Amino acid sequence: MDTGLLHLHNILRWVILLLLIVTLLQAIAKSNGIRPTSLWLLIFSHIMLLIGLYQLIAGRYGTMKGLPEGVSLMKDTFYRFYWIEHPLMMVLAIIFITVARGKAKLLNYKATAWLLFIALVLILAAIPWPFREIVGRPWFPGVK
Ligand code: HEM
Repeated sequence: MDTGLLHLHNILRWVILLLLIVTLLQAIAKSNGIRPTSLWLLIFSHIMLLIGLYQLIAGRYGTMKGLPEGVSLMKDTFYRFYWIEHPLMMVLAIIFITVARGKAKLLNYKATAWLLFIALVLILAAIPWPFREIVGRPWFPGVK
């Protein structure tokens, strides 16, 4: 199950990025099509939050497994990223997406655009892109 969830977490990143960019463009263009897209974005990002929380707690590098012998959390690039930086920035991004959805429902385009822009920057910064040293992961599930 863990591998399946990790693969889902990997692939949903693209769904979220696509929805986030489309919704942001709709906010900029002041399109009322923003109502359904912002809702889908909200749904997918909350699914991602649940999978992420599971991985963080019970996954292969989850907190339930504990830190390996001799590893100090804040001094270890890998564990600091997966236990602190990635979850913290993603949770923040999901909060921004959630608030943005509320604004989008009211067709407050300017507030929605700013909130989504911040969420996009946070997500782009916190994804373990393949070119990142130590924490890098594949573009797609199962790809080296
Ligand atoms: C929009 C939100 C998020 C995006 C785009 C995202 C993206 C990713 C990606 C691309 C990976 C690498 C997957 C792979 O190795 O194939 C990953 C791993 C991980 N994510 Fe997220 N994530 C998000 C939210 C979260 C949240 C909210 C948490 C925790 C509360 C979390 C916890 C983790 C953990 C622990 C791993 C490592 C899992 C492992 O290697 O076993 N993620 N994430």
